Amino acid sequence: MDLRVSPVLALILRVSAMLVLTLGAPAVLCSSEEYILNDKDGLGREFDGVGGLSGGGATSRLLVNYAEPYRSQILDYLFKPNFGASLHILKVEIGGDAQTTDGTEPSHMHYENDENYFRGYEWWLMKEAKKRNPDITLIGLPWAFPGWVGHGKNWPYDFPDITATYVVNWIIGAKQYHDLDIQYVGIWNERNYDSKYIKLLRYTLDKSGLEGVRIIASDNLWEPISLTLLLDPELSTAVDVIGAHYPGTTTVLDALKTQKKLWSSEDYSSFNDEVGGGCWARILNQNYVNGLMTATISWNLVASYYEKLPFGRDGLMTAEEPWSGNYVVESPIWITAHTTQFTQPGWTYLQTVGHLEHGGSYVALTDGKGNLTVVIETMTHDHSVCVRPPLLPFNVTSQNATFQLKGSFAFIKELQVWRSQFNFKTKKPSFFEKLAPVKIIDGSFTLNLAEDEVYTLTTLTTGQKGVFPAPPPSARFPKIYKDDFNVRNPEFSEAPDFADQTGVFEYFMNLTDPGPHVFTLRQVLTQRPVTWATDADQTVSVIGDYQWQNLTVSCDVFMETVKTGGVFVAARVDKGGQSIRSAKGVFFWVFADGTYKVTNDLAGQTVLAEGQSGTLAFGWHTLTLTVEGQFASGLLNGYPLWKNAVVLMPQNGWAAVGTRSFELAQFDNFNVVAK
Ligand SMILES: *[C@@H]1O[C@H](CO)[C@@H](O)[C@H](O)[C@H]1NC(C)=O
Ligand SMILES: *[C@@H]1O[C@H](CO)[C@@H](O)[C@H](O)[C@H]1NC(C)=O
Ligand SMILES: *[C@@H]1O[C@H](CO)[C@@H](O)[C@H](O)[C@H]1NC(C)=O
Ligand SMILES: *[C@@H]1O[C@H](CO)[C@@H](O)[C@H](O)[C@H]1NC(C)=O
Ligand SMILES: *[C@@H]1O[C@H](CO)[C@@H](O)[C@H](O)[C@H]1NC(C)=O
Repeated sequence: MDLRVSPVLALILRVSAMLVLTLGAPAVLCSSEEYILNDKDGLGREFDGVGGLSGGGATSRLLVNYAEPYRSQILDYLFKPNFGASLHILKVEIGGDAQTTDGTEPSHMHYENDENYFRGYEWWLMKEAKKRNPDITLIGLPWAFPGWVGHGKNWPYDFPDITATYVVNWIIGAKQYHDLDIQYVGIWNERNYDSKYIKLLRYTLDKSGLEGVRIIASDNLWEPISLTLLLDPELSTAVDVIGAHYPGTTTVLDALKTQKKLWSSEDYSSFNDEVGGGCWARILNQNYVNGLMTATISWNLVASYYEKLPFGRDGLMTAEEPWSGNYVVESPIWITAHTTQFTQPGWTYLQTVGHLEHGGSYVALTDGKGNLTVVIETMTHDHSVCVRPPLLPFNVTSQNATFQLKGSFAFIKELQVWRSQFNFKTKKPSFFEKLAPVKIIDGSFTLNLAEDEVYTLTTLTTGQKGVFPAPPPSARFPKIYKDDFNVRNPEFSEAPDFADQTGVFEYFMNLTDPGPHVFTLRQVLTQRPVTWATDADQTVSVIGDYQWQNLTVSCDVFMETVKTGGVFVAARVDKGGQSIRSAKGVFFWVFADGTYKVTNDLAGQTVLAEGQSGTLAFGWHTLTLTVEGQFASGLLNGYPLWKNAVVLMPQNGWAAVGTRSFELAQFDNFNVVAK
């Protein structure tokens, strides 16, 4: 056994210490409870950091389209040390071409013989994070896989060698093309694991010289992975970290018995108003206090997706308006700073952590060189309810807490103090305020703790509440919008503001085209991926303002599948994310068999109009769809094709383009005029 006291024992020690204190103090004078911070009997677990998750899926989609300086400012709030959230960990999705909550993220291998490490934006994001914090820990995790990985089955483990090679290629590509060292890799987000696959992944990593890349399993619940690890020593050798999702701050005995690092590898998932900030404050402390978890990762990093997609604004901050430049630094940024600015991965928790007598919790960490950081939260039930985790009952009242510094900390004379107050009653919150340092007298200090506060007390003098001038005001998506896909940012494969919900739409260049369609947007999937959500059978990318009702959408389209091909433009598309299959709207389709259709849904079940169009594959056509009140009409190549289709529902939604199936097709001169 190493220096770490068994967690259960630590808990007993803590409880009995508190009992002694409570019993030992005369009840009448007890206006303050005492808590001891001591390293004399050894330390707790090593701290691994606080992180954010980009992906699972497409949660950073709109961030990349912000103009400077706003984009860099947002990145600074997230990653710059001693500035804002100062994150220790960035976890990203290994794009798998499929819908993974708020969109699809492109794979580095759409097809078996295809490799491209410049798709999507996660490479860019990791580099930007690393630029700001060279020590940031990078993690990759797949949610979905291209169809060929599963040989047509919705299952990635029948050919585990193929899946392992596919994942390891991504890690090698990160190093080779972007000089990024991925330190941890996961299995299959919130889906089954397969022990044989995990061992093969370990073997494939080692064989590729990636012995240093550690494996997290299984990004789901504590069980069955914990028990499996206890029963299978070979698997246990392969896995370094047990990552659980939304653990509700607790763990299970089997997980503790493995002696593995325990992480909350996905957590939070709460609307980022003050209640979300309160949730985050509570779990950042209590994931260790209750569950001995040494890392907590927020889903998601930054809410940079259309707010009407599922889980709108569940990020540490909000950056969902690249067209205006507006972003909002929400309370979770400053709550994160309370921990991240005053600890680093490699610091160690003290054993003396716990709950406060009248609700709330405290943790303490040390760098082993005499520095001490204490984080205290007193979140009440009303104001810190996370959306996802099961709740433990917890009641909080205002209280005085006296902390006794012992062991290496007995000689500390002064601690810096940072405070956040949610102040739900006055609605005047203040976040991450630096107060006057507290003097330590006879090794102790007392805090008067109100409800819904967070305190950091630390020997470090380095904290900073970073600030930029206010960004531009919020504005709606422009009513007039066009993209001919000719001007592109070479760093990205996707056109601004298009949010793929099934399929992958990429910039495409046809150098043999003599005409105006050299640069287009192309749907590139030809096979249904190994999905994580229920992707549609069609492909679809949405764009614009969800409130749009009356508008004209037009687009040049080019089918690349003879006879069975089909493409559409759409308006009032009302759903995305995991609900994409049931999206309604007004969809104007043309098919390569020379027909057209107007449907009220993406699935094409409710037909509003249909007929002959003369459209064929490998020729460009211009589709124009106008929706006004309850009526829709369509033009083909500028000539009326159908009109007065009656549209009762939905009344508003995004514009969109897409294809009838997983088939190649191109789009050009996308144009919206909304009223
Ligand atoms: C605390 O950390 C600072 C900054 O890393 C370091 O310079 C100092 O030596 C550490 N120890 C103490 C006791 O302050
Ligand atoms: C918290 O308060 C509620 C009612 O105010 C009570 O029902 C519950 O038992 C209390 N929980 C704890 C852990 O004290
Ligand atoms: C905290 O201590 C102060 C005296 O320092 C006392 O007035 C106050 O009532 C105490 N608060 C609580 C909740 O015990
Ligand atoms: C590229 O352009 C040429 C010439 O117009 C055309 O024949 C061909 O189908 C195009 N290919 C693709 C993939 O768009
Ligand atoms: C859309 O058009 C209908 C009919 O012309 C009108 O009643 C409605 O107010 C319009 N909606 C908006 C948002 O302009």
